Amino acid sequence: MIHISRSVVGAAELEAMGRVMCEDGYLGMGREVRAFEEELQEYLGGQDRAVICLNSGTAALHLAVAAVTSPGDEVLVQSLTFVASFQAISAAGAVPVACEVYPETVTLDLEDAARRITPRTRAVMPVHYASNPGDLEAIYEFARRHGLRVIEDAAHAFGCTYKGRKIGSFGDLACFSFDGLKNITSGEGGAVVTSDPRVIQAVQDARLLGVQRDTEKRYQGARSWEFDVQQQGYRYHLSNLFAAIGRVQLRRFEGEFKPRRIELAQKYRAALTGTRDLQLLHGDPGPIVPHIFPVRVVNGKRDGLRQFLLEQGIECGIHYKPNHLLSLYGGGQEALPVTERLYEELLTLPLHAGLGDKEIDYASAAVVEFLSKASGC
Ligand SMILES: Cc1ncc(COP(=O)(O)O)c(C=O)c1O
Repeated sequence: MIHISRSVVGAAELEAMGRVMCEDGYLGMGREVRAFEEELQEYLGGQDRAVICLNSGTAALHLAVAAVTSPGDEVLVQSLTFVASFQAISAAGAVPVACEVYPETVTLDLEDAARRITPRTRAVMPVHYASNPGDLEAIYEFARRHGLRVIEDAAHAFGCTYKGRKIGSFGDLACFSFDGLKNITSGEGGAVVTSDPRVIQAVQDARLLGVQRDTEKRYQGARSWEFDVQQQGYRYHLSNLFAAIGRVQLRRFEGEFKPRRIELAQKYRAALTGTRDLQLLHGDPGPIVPHIFPVRVVNGKRDGLRQFLLEQGIECGIHYKPNHLLSLYGGGQEALPVTERLYEELLTLPLHAGLGDKEIDYASAAVVEFLSKASGC
């Protein structure tokens, strides 16, 4: 079976975890987390940017939303995203407002989003779907025009660039995920990146149960005994053990994971371009370091292809079931036609940094074989 994705970890990550266990002796949040944050900050660059690590990308999004909205505020977000984006918004007491996407990129449709603005709209959450940030300049111009905060759901987009600048190195707030399958992993983990001092403080405190300025103490190997709490907090901090994995992954990223993911996506694109009933999403591998490789299979061929690929031992996925169809978020009461059509068409082919050329050739050949037969050519 060729798996759709998997973690690519090994001896170096194991050794780093062993070092924390034996030498540091503290598995909670401390020196190792600080080092990971500093290295991420150095990697991303950008002026006055702070990186705050959390124990998941969902936690990062939750605290980012909580820092810039009040309960009842509305956040514009594409329906076609992982449920984590929606859950993060509703966890903060805000209301996710489901928007359409552009079908060519599956990124937020700004004309549709503009029609959904109300006096309660406080923020927009563009999701960098399949690692594509879309037209970020237009997003920021849209936000400026309407006085909105921008929370980039950059869970897929670690290591990607927009017009030569790394995602996270500029803009309002960017949230990454380091879960087991992302461009880099810390086992589980995530980060908020911003230069807003108020947000930095709010997120740092909220990850440690709202204990004020506990982060500084923990980075010195101490903790707070006499403290105050002024805001709702959570147990969302990253552990030293997970940070140790993340640091190794970050070191491997530029030389190993990034070029491999780009190369594999280019191979798919070369093999699948021109295949009948198949449309590649727009976006160039290179600036985009693809976390997943979804394609559009049109004319009702998606489910047949998916079944055929499974029979050939090729696991596929559907990213994602649109959130406006979920009971918690309206149960499909409102129609989003573009999103719903994409939900019928999208199919994600296997992609991870541990895949070989042969496996991509095999998967591409199976796709072409099925679609050319199904098309009667
Ligand atoms: C688009 C998107 N947003 C948010 C998340 C949440 O990240 P995590 O799994 O680290 O909580 C994910 C994870 O898959 C994601 O794909």
